Amino acid sequence: MCGIVGYIGTAEAAPLLLEGLRRLEYRGYDSAGVTVCANGSLDTRKMAGKIVDLEQAIGGDLPQGTLGIAHTRWATHGAPTATNAHPHHNGADDIAVVHNGIIENAGVLRQKLEELGHELRSETDTEVLAHLIDEAYDDNLEEAVAAALQQVEGTYGIAVVSSRDPEKLVAARNGSPLLLGIGDHSLFVASDAAAVVEHTRDVVYLDDGELAVLDREGYRTSDLRGSPLTKEVSRVSWDLGTIERGGFPHYMLKEIFEQPDSVRDTMRGRLLVEQGTARLGGLSSCLPSQDIAKYNRIVLTACGTSWHAALIGEYMLEEFARIPVETEYASEFRYRDPVLDERSLVIALSQSGETADTLAAIREAKEKGARVVSIVNVVGSSIARAADCGVYIHAGPEIGVASTKAFTSQVVALALITLYLSTQSEPLQEQATVAKALQQLPDQIGQILARNEEIRGMAERYHLNKNFLYLGRGYNFPVALEGALKLKEISYIHAEGYPAAEMKHGPIALIDENMPVVFIAPQGRVYQKILSNVEEVKARGGRVIAITTEGNGELDRLADHIVTVPTTHEMLQPVLTVIPLQLLAYHIAVLRGCHVDQPRNLAKSVTVE
Ligand code: F6R
Repeated sequence: MCGIVGYIGTAEAAPLLLEGLRRLEYRGYDSAGVTVCANGSLDTRKMAGKIVDLEQAIGGDLPQGTLGIAHTRWATHGAPTATNAHPHHNGADDIAVVHNGIIENAGVLRQKLEELGHELRSETDTEVLAHLIDEAYDDNLEEAVAAALQQVEGTYGIAVVSSRDPEKLVAARNGSPLLLGIGDHSLFVASDAAAVVEHTRDVVYLDDGELAVLDREGYRTSDLRGSPLTKEVSRVSWDLGTIERGGFPHYMLKEIFEQPDSVRDTMRGRLLVEQGTARLGGLSSCLPSQDIAKYNRIVLTACGTSWHAALIGEYMLEEFARIPVETEYASEFRYRDPVLDERSLVIALSQSGETADTLAAIREAKEKGARVVSIVNVVGSSIARAADCGVYIHAGPEIGVASTKAFTSQVVALALITLYLSTQSEPLQEQATVAKALQQLPDQIGQILARNEEIRGMAERYHLNKNFLYLGRGYNFPVALEGALKLKEISYIHAEGYPAAEMKHGPIALIDENMPVVFIAPQGRVYQKILSNVEEVKARGGRVIAITTEGNGELDRLADHIVTVPTTHEMLQPVLTVIPLQLLAYHIAVLRGCHVDQPRNLAKSVTVE
């Protein structure tokens, strides 16, 4: 949510900053801007719209200089206008700030500043920061930034330059991600590694309450009181190739097609097939598998698609580990004073590792004494570091705003954790069957992807419909929710996911010939039950799209369209049934002319409440 990039080095800053912004655009894309500091002044260009609009407006007239900052915005305070776009200046236009996060006491600070004679131009909380730094400035930029930040309540990742102290870039973090990229003769600051990997894979992750100064000599880190800190340099495990589209028209399609590999990567080195268990090095430190007996309750918490994966995990863990499990929206959980203690195990899921509500839920759980485990994709992210320990899903960078490969990898990670925690419970035979089935998933996903054209054909039939229902039961109820979310977020078609049997309690009133109903109906324990639900829809004239398992001819007479997927263990079936739904949503959105990778009003990681 908002992308920041900054650069100091020997090369021209503007092209590097604009390129960095392009790589961060998935974090927000309603306005963008860049400031270059040179020759005793700041040259700022900013406007509403996407980065390509900014680039076109700048044309060949790039700001000149080797130090600068840039920002791509997802509006929180104030509409996406040029005035509200970052960087923001102080009154004298000699300090520029880019910011990701929310300054919660911006109103009070603004009033104080106005009383002191400052005139603010925008509606944003960020502009307040530029004026606070100005007010605190004596003769050193980092001291002014630290003094300003001590008055601030809320979250921030910021980068600041000033023509008063023109050989320096100051960055600071509290609650919004920020890292330093350490290159040869070049230093970067960025919201995530995607902005810098083309130039360096050596990064330093800043923690909350930390400040960094980047200058011509190098970088130094400290806390806000100026006490120096020594930070570890980490190596990013992926490179530029991983985050490029590689011939696919959209990141989302590329990421859907990456799933055989991403799921394989989630399992790599972890699955012990013969023993029917998993080796999870990240967990053994704080959650040795035999310790599960200490816990009387598991709470899974997440938002959005990650919450849907968590719901599947609830079914898995309860069935195999035989412990009561609940799944909670992180945003609700944190505000209702949840009953937790040292006998509670909390598992937080997040692709980005930066979702503000999930992070806050973790903090709440830790304060109450619960053990907290994370399942995260982005290495070194805030959630991964806030948890006691965790499991990385290793799905690789996910750029498309609609989450696809992270979902299947999260479900696989949950299956691995289920095996890891359930080897105490009998019968172990079942665990070995699950482990064997996990091993086959990548090839089975490949078989479904081979039906892409068939699914595109189906999308052609339905892309003009205005409403969809998605129905599933058991392990496939969360898949119904996920299928509906994918469709609504990228095609703007209204879609609802329901447990199929709930339909009779209300939604059945919606059924007519204009209502496509997507049934997720693989064969398994609840198949006969869902078959009756299909009959009920058919009897009321609904159009039925069925996702079922190969070899099932029974739905032929009822369904208008059938997509089959290979059979796997019932608890893993969601990894396969979700793939046709991802493709269906993708093709419908493309046919409707929607911006698939950057749907309106959304951003990839929601770092504000
Ligand atoms: C939907 C989607 C969102 C995210 C949600 C949580 O496609 O991507 O619903 O799943 O914002 O994000 P993470 O997993 O990064 O915490």
